Amino acid sequence: MGAKLPMGCVMLWVCVGLVMLMGSGVSSSKFDELFEPGWALDHFVYEGETLKMKLDNFSGAGFSSKNKYMFGKVTVDIKLVEGDSAGTVTAFYMSSDGPKHHEFDFEFLGNTTGEPYVVQTNVYVNGVGNREQRLNLWFDPTTDFHSYSILWNQRQVVFLVDETPIRVHSNLEHKGLPYPKDQAMGVYSSIWNADDWATQGGRVKTDWSHAPFIASYTNFKIDGCVCQATVNAANMLQQCSSSAEKKFWWDEPRLAELSLHQSHELLWVRAKHMIYDYCKDATRFPVTPVECQHHHHQH
Ligand SMILES: *[C@@H]1O[C@H](CO)[C@@H](O)[C@H](O)[C@H]1NC(C)=O
Ligand SMILES: *[C@@H]1O[C@H](CO)[C@@H](O)[C@H](O)[C@H]1NC(C)=O
Repeated sequence: MGAKLPMGCVMLWVCVGLVMLMGSGVSSSKFDELFEPGWALDHFVYEGETLKMKLDNFSGAGFSSKNKYMFGKVTVDIKLVEGDSAGTVTAFYMSSDGPKHHEFDFEFLGNTTGEPYVVQTNVYVNGVGNREQRLNLWFDPTTDFHSYSILWNQRQVVFLVDETPIRVHSNLEHKGLPYPKDQAMGVYSSIWNADDWATQGGRVKTDWSHAPFIASYTNFKIDGCVCQATVNAANMLQQCSSSAEKKFWWDEPRLAELSLHQSHELLWVRAKHMIYDYCKDATRFPVTPVECQHHHHQH
């Protein structure tokens, strides 16, 4: 079976299968299977299937996926910093490398005890971001685990919270806009001090007497097309695209856009929970970005 697989990209379950076959010595933890700590190893605490990352006066911490992917869905359950989290940012994102990189970001901006966490999302295409949206959640993200996902296919990038879409970045190549589908992306998370901007615009500083600040993670899932670093972009795109021989679930027509139910959920999120949308910021963007005009017509 292995011999028939394309060299560059293989479905993740094949790799997971191989790891399981190789067996001994490989940790059974989902985290170890998919990810590795990026820095500050002494700021990681493992408790069964839960991983905790600490931010203190000396360091934050971060982890990254072992593989790079093109398309699919990544999900992790996160319980954000409890109590006073002002000044801290916890991020969960996908990113490619290089100056023209693509990036899909969840950034969780901490707050003083009792004040709401803010979820900021952003999308970078060819190295250009400035597409921030911010929302308050409909639950307290510090008391329980909630799932945060990024679905990525050739038609759309969807940010989901507990499977509710909070943002869609659609493919508008037919309007001349570049769409991220030519670079393999890694999956990352980190916690760091950002008290120069994060909480109430940087007015509230991190209170280190409340450190360590701990973000907890569990239920790591990546269902995507794994790419090898040595394969060029055009081949990767081909190998991670459905064809007569192979079908990828994320290319199913029903995933080319939100379902009607999801569109209603997104409208609800935008109406009830959105507190900032770059599309509506005429000070920053005197001319409304083209993708925003399109989104506007859609709803
Ligand atoms: C923190 O709480 C204040 C007051 O409720 C709110 O205005 C702000 O948006 C919250 N989040 C951040 C990141 O400042
Ligand atoms: C944090 O670090 C700074 C500089 O290293 C130090 O002056 C300060 O006392 C530390 N604060 C705490 C709460 O540990």
